[in-house]
Amino acid sequence: MDPPDFRAAAHAVADLMADYLETVETRAVFPVIEPGSLAPLFPSTPPEGPEPLATILTDYQRLIEPNATHWQHPGFFAYFATTASGPGILGEMLTATLGQNPMLWRTSPIGTELEEVVVDWLRQALGLPESFDGLLTDTASTSSLIALGAARQAAGFDVAARGLTGRPDLPALRVYASTEAHSSIEKACMTLGLGRDALVRVPADARFQLQPDALEAAIAADRAAGHRAIAIVATVGTTSSTSVDPVAAIAEIAQREGLWLHVDSAYAGVVAMLPERRAPFAGWERADSIVVNPHKWLFTPLDASLLLTRRMTDLRDAFSLVPEYLRTPDRETPGRDYNEYTPQLGRRFRALKLWIQLRWFGLGGLRRRIDHHLGLAAEFARWVDDDPDWERLAPVPFSTVCFRWNPASGASESELDARNTAIMASVNRTGEVFLSHTRLDGRFTIRLAVGNLRTESRHVARAWELLRAAVRSDDA
Ligand SMILES: Cc1ncc(COP(=O)(O)O)c(C=O)c1O
Repeated sequence: MDPPDFRAAAHAVADLMADYLETVETRAVFPVIEPGSLAPLFPSTPPEGPEPLATILTDYQRLIEPNATHWQHPGFFAYFATTASGPGILGEMLTATLGQNPMLWRTSPIGTELEEVVVDWLRQALGLPESFDGLLTDTASTSSLIALGAARQAAGFDVAARGLTGRPDLPALRVYASTEAHSSIEKACMTLGLGRDALVRVPADARFQLQPDALEAAIAADRAAGHRAIAIVATVGTTSSTSVDPVAAIAEIAQREGLWLHVDSAYAGVVAMLPERRAPFAGWERADSIVVNPHKWLFTPLDASLLLTRRMTDLRDAFSLVPEYLRTPDRETPGRDYNEYTPQLGRRFRALKLWIQLRWFGLGGLRRRIDHHLGLAAEFARWVDDDPDWERLAPVPFSTVCFRWNPASGASESELDARNTAIMASVNRTGEVFLSHTRLDGRFTIRLAVGNLRTESRHVARAWELLRAAVRSDDA
């Protein structure tokens, strides 16, 4: 594809993109399709010869677009939203065009140094002290893996060099997180060779928050059993209910015990950009590492996760391995080779889309949109609270409401589970909104998570209307 052809094709694709964004609201958020129905629509063997771009793009419109889950739809209230904002999409286009690989300073001077700049801009926006440095990764799962890998190394057994097996000198290593912590923490323990058993799930209270007393007791019991604690993970904004662990009290314990404190705020962290909403984050400035995902609630196209840490040297001790062909004189200067801080070598130039986005919205614009979402969720929570036939199942510290239908006339727990499952399915079948669920205290819980850039109050109102209509219909 030579440059003149590329120019014409890129203009055509830009039109497709704008058309999609303009019409996304007219589509079913989750299309009516069954698992396994899509692959048979494609030839079972790859094309031997070239095909015209026009044919490929026609097929894109026929086969790809209609069969996507429309995360860009303003009625997307499932999981936690990931919106690709206009400026973020443009950033992705330019990223692909430049084809940078900021694994070494030399392989992308601007990729490396813009990452330093953007990480620091985000640190300031979140109100964290200058002692935090960091980097961008693909996902919170990777960010937490890196943080716990550094904690494992910092424990002093030189696992990076000597591994974990066949070592009589090595006690069982332990990581602590609440029962509500995200599965990525457990997966990090699996991946790092600590094993899933290394993760001690500390009980949460009635508000789904880690109980510091129980944490202290668990650490003491492990010490008595000859185990070695290495890290605590506190979550601000858990996945199910968005509960907030008491970070300040946990930081106190971490400091006393000499443990690495990692704060997982993948979803909710961006709320710290609003100075008046920082209360849930009190104490996170004492953490060793923090993860916040711009690709969740900062409208950045997948992927972009921010890992902040006060201990970059520990990350480097855990992950640096420099073969001769990657050895450059730049290592001796302040030029940073980011691959030394991560398990992977090649890296995407994620800073570019963030730089474009941060400038296009400005911090004020981002704060305004996040605040708007907080307000929409508060309003939805009020509707639930005011209706005797509905029940809220968790506090709403951020933009996610956990609730269920529970009629004033009464119903058994199993009836409520079945009926709420059916209500959610019925609402999702309309295609106008998309909700997902969790289980809280064993109860089927519907979640409405506001986070899509394009969501307006009419979309939240429509979700509430559809939920109540589903109760009245035979369908549910
Ligand atoms: C609190 C929390 N941590 C981590 C993750 C994992 O995020 P990612 O998909 O970026 O790995 C999630 C996903 O929803 C989450 O809610």
